[in-house]
Amino acid sequence: MSIVQAKPHSATEAVNGNTLVSPNVKQFIEFDHPQKYRTSEWYTGHGKIAAQGDGRSFEITASYTLKAEVQVVDGIFEPSNPILADVYSRRGRCVAIVDQTVNELYGEAIRGYFEAHNIPLKLMACRAWESDKTPETVHRLLGFLGKDGCDVSRNEPVLVVGGGVLSDVAGLACALQHRRTPYIMIGTTVVAAIDAGPSPRTCTNGQQFKNSMGVYHPPVLTLVDRKFFATLDTGHVRNGMAEIIKMAVTDDPILFKLLEDYGPQLLENHFATLGGDNELADIADEVIYRALFSYMKHEGTNMFETYQDRPHAYGHTWSPRFEPAVKLMHGHSVTIGMAFGATLAQEMGWLNTEDRDRIINLCRSLGLSVYHPILEDLDLMLEGQKNMRRKRGEGGLWAPLPTGIGSCSYAQEVSSGLLQTAVETHKELCTAFSDEGKGQQMYLSDLGLE
Ligand SMILES: NC(=O)c1ccc[n+]([C@@H]2O[C@H](COP(=O)([O-])OP(=O)(O)OC[C@H]3O[C@@H](n4cnc5c(N)ncnc54)[C@H](O)[C@@H]3O)[C@@H](O)[C@H]2O)c1
Repeated sequence: MSIVQAKPHSATEAVNGNTLVSPNVKQFIEFDHPQKYRTSEWYTGHGKIAAQGDGRSFEITASYTLKAEVQVVDGIFEPSNPILADVYSRRGRCVAIVDQTVNELYGEAIRGYFEAHNIPLKLMACRAWESDKTPETVHRLLGFLGKDGCDVSRNEPVLVVGGGVLSDVAGLACALQHRRTPYIMIGTTVVAAIDAGPSPRTCTNGQQFKNSMGVYHPPVLTLVDRKFFATLDTGHVRNGMAEIIKMAVTDDPILFKLLEDYGPQLLENHFATLGGDNELADIADEVIYRALFSYMKHEGTNMFETYQDRPHAYGHTWSPRFEPAVKLMHGHSVTIGMAFGATLAQEMGWLNTEDRDRIINLCRSLGLSVYHPILEDLDLMLEGQKNMRRKRGEGGLWAPLPTGIGSCSYAQEVSSGLLQTAVETHKELCTAFSDEGKGQQMYLSDLGLE
């Protein structure tokens, strides 16, 4: 602890090693908390207190440091893989929340892994459909983690294994357990592996607006193993590719080119996990790594969304309003938002026609939707803007829009006139396509697919 005083030194005295201060002295005290008293091995903090010297007021600033690690790995649950055993053998058990479908497919492998390492496993299988993304599910998970369940300690990382719905709700439950309990995320869908999994944005849905309640709480470790993609429905692989396109368009032109060249093959062979086709394994790893790095470069370093220059919000400005309104798959709703955003950017003179068409064609080459008539509901679109402006802090709409392949800027406002013109242009463009821009399997069902 260090003290800086603006007035005479006589104002402080030490009693039993504790520094006492006079209320009438302007001073500044900085705390470096001793390492031996740490609550958790995952988080650190630092604080300052500045007294105004008027005997009535003082100001506190505190910073909180989170370290989040991301690793692309092979065979997470192969007994020879030491990563999880190293973490959990020290704690004498592993408390895990696993997506119900993933438990059916991989539960045996998960149990076998912990048995092989003599680590007791407490596993809760949780159904995690989009319709389960509710405060009730979070509450149920807290029952499992809390005092009446496993009584998880504040320094015990919960293992979460599943898709984006589970990472959102289980991450939120971990954030609420003891106010902040760490978790390790294994994303088993493409969306969860490269986006929702490492994301700090845990949440649940509201009635009309997606992801409207939540907290910022990233996993301390994200493990990405594309082998899980082998058992995904192809529709879910396609859905996840939308989030990769988003980073390619706004941040990484090499990733964009890789998707143009190999995207359809990666979709077909589920990122080189099907049919013994390992030829594209290196490309699959590079696409995953680039998408993750690009996303976390922006999202991970702006963990509490203290700034709104967020390229990864491309395609996510109007879609949180129209996605639940017509029950679209998240990825399709994002590509509709991105394709519309490309047309809007072209209308605004930010993007040339050739790059607009490359963006729309890339989405279409993967069977992702680029148009839905819900865009023509101007009231709903304007309401979406209003919601989004509020969510982004009322400083502006800050809609990320492409300025080329691999770059973007932020539209502070979009007038209703411009919005309507852009929708009309986009409709005209898309009705010329044989499928009118519908793509394949755009709607949610209970199972998440048509
Ligand atoms: N927090 C964020 O930053 C963020 C980012 C992107 C998306 N999201 C959210 O993620 C959700 C979508 O996630 P999703 O696309 O992963 O969907 P999902 O979690 O609904 O998973 C899709 C389906 O696949 C099943 N499944 C999971 N892994 C499987 C596997 N390996 N093999 C076979 N089936 C498997 C699940 O049981 C589910 O039925 C949306 O709610 C979206 O809002 C959040």
